[in-house]
Amino acid sequence: MTTAMQVRLETTAAADHWGKNALLSFSDSEARIHATEATGGTLTAVQRAARRLDGMGVTDILLAGDNWDIESRWCFWAGYYNPNRNSTLDWGLADGAELKELEARKAASLWVREITNGSPENISPRALAESAADMLEQLAPDAVSYRIIAGDKLTEEGFAGIHTVGRGSVREPVMLQLDYNPTGNADAPVDICLVGKGITFDSGGYSIKPSAGMATMKSDMGGAAMVSGGLALAIARGLNKRIKLYLCCAENLISGSAFKLGDIIRYKNGVTAEILNTDAEGRLVLADGLIAASEENPRYILDAATLTGAAKMAVGRDFNSVLSFEDEMAQKVLAAAGAENEKAWRLPLEKFHMEQIPSGFAEIANVGIDGSPGASTAAAFLAKFVRDEGRAWVHMDLSGSYLPAPNDQWAQGAKGHGVRTIARFLMDN
Ligand code: BES
Ligand code: ZN
Ligand code: ZN
Repeated sequence: MTTAMQVRLETTAAADHWGKNALLSFSDSEARIHATEATGGTLTAVQRAARRLDGMGVTDILLAGDNWDIESRWCFWAGYYNPNRNSTLDWGLADGAELKELEARKAASLWVREITNGSPENISPRALAESAADMLEQLAPDAVSYRIIAGDKLTEEGFAGIHTVGRGSVREPVMLQLDYNPTGNADAPVDICLVGKGITFDSGGYSIKPSAGMATMKSDMGGAAMVSGGLALAIARGLNKRIKLYLCCAENLISGSAFKLGDIIRYKNGVTAEILNTDAEGRLVLADGLIAASEENPRYILDAATLTGAAKMAVGRDFNSVLSFEDEMAQKVLAAAGAENEKAWRLPLEKFHMEQIPSGFAEIANVGIDGSPGASTAAAFLAKFVRDEGRAWVHMDLSGSYLPAPNDQWAQGAKGHGVRTIARFLMDN
């Protein structure tokens, strides 16, 4: 005897007494989702219904009946997950490829959501790097190797950006360098490099954030989480390419040893950058990851970061932003997102944006000139650290990926929305 509530998916409207365009109707131990045009179309209706069932306090659900498919099952999980509850969902599948894929998505997505929702006291830069490395190593013990470069060792290896941003914290900054090499050939060329922003807490530094803006900044490692989760899902799907992953992890805090406005960072590739705002720290740490990635000369480089409030203002919290100099690169990510039922939108990036970050004391500054577009100038800064100033590189700004409050489709916190896009990008390119 199961105690789970059985949830059926129907394409017909609910009986009138449930109200006009009712999303849900109930009988005994059963709920029915009425997925019609009027309730938002199948996937939206399912995700809304899942959120609503969680809101009612239903903690044990079985997806029953014949109308479920892989995408509707997935949307149910996406909406049902709540970091503040420990619920159980039975997909209603005995075995097979669909179950395997759903479990792979869930494992990757859950890791991303949980580590992003975790408190910044528990998720230090090193804890983030170790968790990502452990998670990936467990998936493919024979193909994964990694090293973690920490504290002053970063300076010795020339990773000045991560060290500068992280040195104000008593918890040392780290870079994770992870190699997924399923080829069996240690000299195989690297196909794709992934780089993630792993700021485990962004206070803004001396350019301190107001409290309301700081309240969600445990999620500023969302890019690092998303590239790791994307790689995990691709590995579970059988990825047969060599990938290198770089996580740039630090806490952006205030102390007697923190970096200051006016400081200049000299990067490994010779570029100097003047700090005009310590809150524009993501680009400073990503620069190190992009330099390391570029040294491998992979076919493609993709980075993901909760980089700018400007991207969130532009596209809202339902879309990830995509920036690249090259139409073809942007298109690869947009196509991957489309194929996986995730939303992504391209924002402008042109070479002239690189002229909008001038400095009187260094080659570039870490903020754009007055009136310049924030998401584009942030990406232009990153381009300075990519081989040939941005060749075969695409940047994802995920600043809208964390919800400060729940909405009709998602619980509060991390959505994991982007994991499938990155996994598909790795599989298809
Ligand atoms: N982590 C923030 C960007 C962010 C803001 C992510 C809101 C998610 C939600 C980033 O480090 C930042 O503070 N960027 C500044 C840059 C500015 C000072 C040029 C921003 O966007 O305001
Ligand atoms: Zn910041
Ligand atoms: Zn930040």
